[in-house]
Amino acid sequence: MIKIAPSILAADFTKLGYDIESVSSADYLHFDVMDGVFVPNISFGIPVLESVRKATDMILDVHLMIENPSRYITKFAKAGADIITFHVEAETHDNTLRAINEIHKLGKKAGLSIKPDTPAKNLLPYIDSLDLALVMTVEPGYGGQMFISTMLPKIKELRDVINNKGINCELEVDGGINPKTAKQCIEAGANVLVTGYDLFNMADRAAHITKLRNP
Ligand code: DX5
Ligand code: ZN
Repeated sequence: MIKIAPSILAADFTKLGYDIESVSSADYLHFDVMDGVFVPNISFGIPVLESVRKATDMILDVHLMIENPSRYITKFAKAGADIITFHVEAETHDNTLRAINEIHKLGKKAGLSIKPDTPAKNLLPYIDSLDLALVMTVEPGYGGQMFISTMLPKIKELRDVINNKGINCELEVDGGINPKTAKQCIEAGANVLVTGYDLFNMADRAAHITKLRNP
């Protein structure tokens, strides 16, 4: 089943409640946290997540683009995250294992993300304990960027690993997703599609979510 995860980075924060409601037929709500260190941009954090949590019962798919994310796992879990994804480039091996374990102990789902220049193999030491693997299809830090099509073989490589292992890890793609690139990513093996700019620029978002599920 193809899942759609609207990224509220592309929402209008003067009417965030309305924008969240307009995409409530999606499967997850993607929440991009940026610290201005791990990525060259600053977005939003715990207070906004706490408000979003009160505004919706959608599954909150929190994407931590922050340095040393293991420091904040508990805070994001308590603020309402359902899925907590952080970057393999942002933590030591031991801290990555500890953070995945902590996320699970808190009753949440654990995801690990890789930047475009990071090979798929860097996820392999952790993939058996992941609920979600996130392949960035843009350089993290901004919405509205062009899809990097050279990520398609990486998506397929991870899909093959997941299928061969018979594990329950979702494969999420993030960045530059529209009906054309959605089709390419689904064919490569992705099953969760993050979309910000493309979706939030649509008038009929429910219809577009349906279209992205089956492009
Ligand atoms: C970028 C974020 C993405 C981004 C996706 O660093 O992780 O979630 O908001 O947005 P679009 O669909 O606009 O590329
Ligand atoms: Zn994201």
